Amino acid sequence: MKNKLEEILKNASEEISKSANIQELEEVKLKYLSRKGELNTIKKNLKDLSDEDKRVIGSLANNIYNELETKINTKNEELYKIELNKKLVSEKIDISLPSDIRVQGKVHPLTQTINEIVEIFQGLGFSVMKSENSPEVETEYINFDMLNFPPNHPAKDMQDTFYTKVAPNVILRSQTSGAQIRQMLHQAPPVRVISPGRVYRCESVSARKNNLFHQIEGLLVDKDITFGDLKGILNEFVRIYFGSSRPTRFRASYFPFTEPSAEVDVECIMCGGKGCRTCSGTGWLEVLGAGMVHANVLRNVGIDPEIYSGFAFGMGVERLTMLKYAINDIRLFFNNDIRFLNQF
Ligand code: PHE
Repeated sequence: MKNKLEEILKNASEEISKSANIQELEEVKLKYLSRKGELNTIKKNLKDLSDEDKRVIGSLANNIYNELETKINTKNEELYKIELNKKLVSEKIDISLPSDIRVQGKVHPLTQTINEIVEIFQGLGFSVMKSENSPEVETEYINFDMLNFPPNHPAKDMQDTFYTKVAPNVILRSQTSGAQIRQMLHQAPPVRVISPGRVYRCESVSARKNNLFHQIEGLLVDKDITFGDLKGILNEFVRIYFGSSRPTRFRASYFPFTEPSAEVDVECIMCGGKGCRTCSGTGWLEVLGAGMVHANVLRNVGIDPEIYSGFAFGMGVERLTMLKYAINDIRLFFNNDIRFLNQF
């Protein structure tokens, strides 16, 4: 029995030191030290021995038990350390790795310009037209005919129009001016509104032209409205939008729905009027179309031109944004490149 005990000590010690992980060590412990383990089996057989042998073998068994227990505990600590280290290495967090950056969304530069211009005109007593009165899918009738474009007038070609297959004469509006008609059909004078929105023209896309862009239409109709009022409002707008007291000039022009018509230029913001590439050497930049509402247009919507008069203006949002921030390619607004958009 003594030999048997020594054999257990030898085998168990070997198995303990060979254990490669805590799981294996746990099995060794079960095999030798548990209630049904090999050492206990021997202890159970002590009852058949003489008292003397019981004492000697019993205490030997206890010593071996203690020795093995110590060995297991030591080994357990050792294995625990190894496993912990492995875990620390495998689960190491590399704090130098770039983080999962969440970029915050921003208001698109065109929307920023629209908001800014709307605010300026609100300050000048204009309100924003309901969008239901300025649909992007429009009839040729509102977009052109009601605005005093004669049938087959070349001006229709001037704004190369997108026709749809929805119905004959249903188009994507080429200008926001149709909103003037819808507003006046809707509201008797005094009228004092602006209307921002998208317009479409069938053009080949370039750095200067996109076939989708934005305009802001303005309309004021009341008694005794003169060209002087138009000049006053637009000069004030340009002064606020471009800052400082940048000179403007009104150049005679032509639109079928205004008479007289003008194009409004501001002194070139790049060269200050000396002449450069941006202003094609003229020193001036065109920023607006405007004029007194044509008597025919007033008549078309049932307003008596003998009693009322008014002015209208239209401006390109992309152009105004490009001039203000020195942007040289209109396509940048539509590419949604975050490196561009982040600058606003
Ligand atoms: N609708 C014109 C354009 O697209 C601009 C304009 C609006 C001119 C209102 C006069 C009055 O060019």
